[in-house]
Parts: sequence; C-alpha cells; structure tokens
Amino acid sequence: MSKQKYTFSVAPMMDWTDRHCRFFHRLITRHAQLYTEMVTARALIYGDAARLMRFDVREHPVAIQLGGAEPLELARAAKLAEDAGYNEVNLNVGCPSDRVQSGAFGAALMANPALVADCVTAMAAVVQIPVTVKCRIGIDEQEPHETLPVFIETVSAAPCDTFIIHARKAWLKGLSPKQNRNVPPLDYDMVRSIKMAHPDLTIILNGGLRDVPHALAQSETLDGAMMGRAAYQTPWMLAKIDTLVFGKTGSGPVKEDIVAALIEYAAHETENGTPLHAITRHIMGLFAGQPGARNWRRTLSEDAPRPGAGPEVIAKAAQAVLGELWAA
Ligand SMILES: Cc1cc2nc3c(=O)[nH]c(=O)nc-3n(C[C@H](O)[C@H](O)[C@H](O)COP(=O)(O)O)c2cc1C
Repeated sequence: MSKQKYTFSVAPMMDWTDRHCRFFHRLITRHAQLYTEMVTARALIYGDAARLMRFDVREHPVAIQLGGAEPLELARAAKLAEDAGYNEVNLNVGCPSDRVQSGAFGAALMANPALVADCVTAMAAVVQIPVTVKCRIGIDEQEPHETLPVFIETVSAAPCDTFIIHARKAWLKGLSPKQNRNVPPLDYDMVRSIKMAHPDLTIILNGGLRDVPHALAQSETLDGAMMGRAAYQTPWMLAKIDTLVFGKTGSGPVKEDIVAALIEYAAHETENGTPLHAITRHIMGLFAGQPGARNWRRTLSEDAPRPGAGPEVIAKAAQAVLGELWAA
C-alpha cells in the first residue's frame, strides 16, 4: 500500500450527505474526500442543475455521485459537474432501491459490466477529473468470486482505475434498500482479492466499517476506506483522519471552533432562506458519547424546526454542552 495514495472518504448517502452535511464534515476533517448524494444524470440535464449541484467551495475535495445508465446522458452530466467545480465524478453501481431499478441503473448495472464500461468511457471522454465507480461485490444470484473479477476487468479496461466496493451483495428483489445495507453478509476478503489481482487499480473498501481503527485495519492492503453510517452518526471520529491517514501534523479540530463556524454558517444560510433545521439535523452527533450530548440534541431538535429559528439555537444548544462560553 502506498501511503500517499491511501485515501479516506465519507460515503454518498441520499438525504444525508447534502451540502450542509458536507460543510459540517469538512470542519472536522480537512482532507477526507466527501461525496454528494446520488443525483441522476437526467435530473442534472433536464432539471435545475445549478441547485442540484450547489456546494460551498470550502467543501473541497468533493466528488459528485451520478446515477444513470445512458452513456451520453452521463457524459453530459459529468461535464456539467466538472464545470461546476467537482473534483471527481463517481458512478453509482450499488444502489438497490426500486426507483433506481426501474431506471435499470445503480446495482442493477452489476449485471451489465459492458454497459458500465461504455458509461465510464463516455464520461471520461469529456472530463479531465477522475471518473470512479462505486459498486457492490455482486447482486442476486451472482457468484461474486466469478462475476466481480469480470466486472472489474471489463470496467477497468475503460478509463476507470478507482473502484469503491461495498463489500456485500445487493438483493434487488425481496430486500429493502435498508436491509440491503445490513442483511447480505460482508465479505472484505472478496475486495482484497480484487486488489491482489489488480495491484495497479485503486481499490477502496466500504461497508460496515465501525470506526477509524477498524476501517484502517480492514483496508490495510487496500488503497483506502469509505465510511458511511458510522461517520454520519458519530462524526467526531473523523477528527483523527487528517493525522492518521493524511499525515498532517498540528493540533487538529476543536469542537468549540466547529460550533463557532457552524453558527456563522447558519447565520449566512438562514439569512438566505435555508431553514435552520436543514443544517442542524446533520450535527446531532457532534457530542455523541460526551456529557451533555442529550441536551445538545434536545435543544436542536426542539428549537431548530421553529419558524424563524436562527443561529442562536446552535449557540443555546452548545451552551447546554460546552457551558457558559456559548451564552447568547
Ligand atoms: C441513508 C443512506 C443513503 C445512501 N445513499 C446512497 C447513495 O446515494 N449512493 C450510494 O452509492 N450509496 C448510498 N448509500 C450506501 C452508502 O454509501 C454505503 O455504501 C453503505 O451505507 C455501506 O457503508 P457503511 O456501512 O459505512 O454505512 C446510502 C446509505 C445510507 C445509510
């Protein structure tokens, strides 16, 4: 494993990793790669692309995740994303929801590696930024040890050398998206075997990584780890990433500074029409496991949804956990 190349990211999560969430995560880690929620290529082409792709430049490095299975549409969407300033475009080959299946993209694409290769080829032809793929180890009746190597070989013959692999199958029939994130067993060895067969590819492990030490240990022979739910629920674990993964020295983030930055951010956003709750719903876990955490959560969840709520709610919630410093 080359230390420079090793990377750490927070997973794309619909309804969770919106721009407010990413801004918050960026306050905790300067260097982890952040991902948008999945946005369909069609939504970008035919919808309000500027709104859908909006992000704060301070979120960098940030990748957009696209959903789709139409090479020309994906290429157009990738170009829009590059022009908007994203530094990576990722293709979703892992999402099992019905809505996604009816468009025959997401995890359904695991059954059609040639089409994924076409999609990646079309996207890479029009952008300079890396085109990456996030996939499963397989779907339905597939035997991952047979089908995953074919998938990786076929897609890596196109201009894609980075695969983020969620180390479990997806069952397209019979399991809900939520069950598909928990029920099919994890198989980290399957992901490691892909790296052994393709040392030149960048292979990033995802799925069930509980905390940073677990993520680093399980991905030791790989090129990185991507963490989803654990990072969202207990975001402070990301505070160690810059030192442990990216070798940065310095004092690291401080919760008081993060709260101050959030107050400033919320002031600006609420002035421009963002409901406070759209921001505070992502920051509930900041003090997880610490005395006062319950007061922080309670103040945010009771006061932030009220009409006209502004940054003072975050200050009040912080006072509940950090003390007088945050008195209004
Ligand atoms: C609420 C939620 C939404 C998700 N949305 C997406 C998505 O838009 N695109 C995607 O590739 N994966 C999505 N996922 C899957 C995660 O990216 C990740 O692969 C999965 O949660 C396993 O990682 P974890 O065990 O670290 O959470 C979502 C997961 C959750 C919990």
